[in-house]
Amino acid sequence: MTGRAPRRRVLRALAALPLAGLAGACSAPQAPPPADAIVFRHPKLFGDPQPLDTLVGLFGRAHGVRVRRETLPASSDEQHLFYAINLRARSRAFDVLALDTIWVAEFARAGWLRDLSHAISASDRADLFHAPLASVSWEARQYALPWFADAGLLYYRADLLAAQGLAAPRTWTDLVDAVRRVKRVRPDLHGFVWQGKQYEGLVCNALEFIWGHGGDLDRPAEPAVRGLAFMRALVTAGVTPPFVTTLTEEPARVLFGRGKALFLRNWPYAWRLLERSGSPLQRRVGVCPLPHASGHATASALGGWHLGVNAFSERAAIAERLAAFLAAAPAQKALALAYGYSPPRRSLYADPELAAAQPFLASIGTVIETARPRPVSPYYVALSQTLQSEFSAVLAGVRTPSEALAAIARERRALASP
Ligand code: GLC
Repeated sequence: MTGRAPRRRVLRALAALPLAGLAGACSAPQAPPPADAIVFRHPKLFGDPQPLDTLVGLFGRAHGVRVRRETLPASSDEQHLFYAINLRARSRAFDVLALDTIWVAEFARAGWLRDLSHAISASDRADLFHAPLASVSWEARQYALPWFADAGLLYYRADLLAAQGLAAPRTWTDLVDAVRRVKRVRPDLHGFVWQGKQYEGLVCNALEFIWGHGGDLDRPAEPAVRGLAFMRALVTAGVTPPFVTTLTEEPARVLFGRGKALFLRNWPYAWRLLERSGSPLQRRVGVCPLPHASGHATASALGGWHLGVNAFSERAAIAERLAAFLAAAPAQKALALAYGYSPPRRSLYADPELAAAQPFLASIGTVIETARPRPVSPYYVALSQTLQSEFSAVLAGVRTPSEALAAIARERRALASP
């Protein structure tokens, strides 16, 4: 794949946007073009900003409005802090905002988001995967539009496994064995890297270890203990380097992308970056569902981002139209081609052009469809603080899995009866 081919494909997808139809995708009344710009806040992009600029530019010209994009740091926690501070102060400084899937209940309950139920048509509802649609819902109303969906995936060095006659691992034991085998001939290589820093990403990784061992936070019993013990043992057994406690998505992706590790856990966006022109790993990487303990099933954490409209926006009608435009299938296709954002719509997994550009998409539709949400609660972010510090303490070996799970259960009870 050359650098130009994806760019051409993105531009073609953009040129095909049926603007008039898209503009009508939301039934909000036509607003007179405001004098100043609508502001769209979203996380840092990994890649060329041009495709997103082209999209918002097309919208702006069709509606006679200026759209200003403002980015926030990639970390979900830092973005949450920004919104919590600004929305509590009823800020009007941004109109459309990208929301992590875990925030909708909290923001909706606080009255910070406009109700966008009317902007999701019956055909959208049939097309959207259940989990992203459920995660924009609060008390039977929808407060955001699913934009792209994330689910944890395992990336592996297909070339290095093949050289040892190994297939992609299905169980955690397969993965540990593969690391040992490959390290015999490549002792310089790290085994399995993932997101172990104390932040939201660790919550996703730790829950996947727990779920993949048949455990659950609702039942903090033996299987959950085994999941967390396995997480810690990865480090003590040398399968995962100790500096995993500093890794977020991008540092882990960059390390793997430089050929320094055999396995990586990351979200779907990493694939496009690993395959882009100039990547030393082009055509050497495979993607598969996360391994699980034997006798159990694979389990990925559901992630992803949605588009909401600030309840205090003075340009709400046009802001709704922008959100609907960016969350409609043609824009989602363009963003999937440009940034590897996996669409939350079934129909796009059958799109031949998308499938040709990102062959692994066919296999991840099911992973996204079956991904498990983190606890859905307006107090999720408070709970997450406890999850982050407890999981981190287990990873560092300063707390046992049972102690951590007991502390988490106490916090959940406290939050359930505030
Ligand atoms: C990704 C996911 C998001 C998650 C975050 C954790 O951005 O889409 O849901 O909270 O990673 O780092």
